[in-house]
Amino acid sequence: MVLSTGYSKIRTAVFISGTGSNLKSLIKFSKIKKSPISIEFIISNNSKAKGLNYAKIYKIKKIVLNFKNQNLSETRLLYILKMNNIEMICLAGFMKILSKNFINKFKGKILNIHPSLLPKYKGLNTHERVLNNREKFSGCTVHFVNSRLDSGKIILQKKVRILKNETESSLAKKILAQEHKLYPKAILKVFNL
Ligand code: GRF
Repeated sequence: MVLSTGYSKIRTAVFISGTGSNLKSLIKFSKIKKSPISIEFIISNNSKAKGLNYAKIYKIKKIVLNFKNQNLSETRLLYILKMNNIEMICLAGFMKILSKNFINKFKGKILNIHPSLLPKYKGLNTHERVLNNREKFSGCTVHFVNSRLDSGKIILQKKVRILKNETESSLAKKILAQEHKLYPKAILKVFNL
């Protein structure tokens, strides 16, 4: 990434839509000394997202933009990010697809986590499709975001074995636990740390 860590941390916004367990792990990571990022803003398209509670707990600014009019929401979002000097974006369970225009404004500075071994199983319902195909392994991937869904350059992946009696929920739980470790590791890798 063409960001220099220098002495100050990279001002980061995390985009969520739901539980925010990856957000929580990123906040915890951001607080350790060797972390190159500080989480300055939480963005959600969903006012009911549980993860928004972390804004209050950790005293982080937050905003909800409903994305009903994507163009309008993104214009506001870009303004807010600029006003807050946000340099990097981590998508963490964010269920909206950002426009090409938005992505270009943060080129190479948006990361995402996806619960599959990309390039396999892009998109939604990954665990269901993985199990239907009787895969032996699945996992999670942190990647850069480009204008094609779940297709940007892969930063790091973690593989998990699928057990005989695996269910969608057991697999989701197992992968999520790995996601919480993988996202911080991938960020360190991006900054060559
Ligand atoms: C994670 O499995 C992530 O990979 C996917 O959505 C889920 C979000 O979980 N994109 P959480 O909100 O971080 O708990």
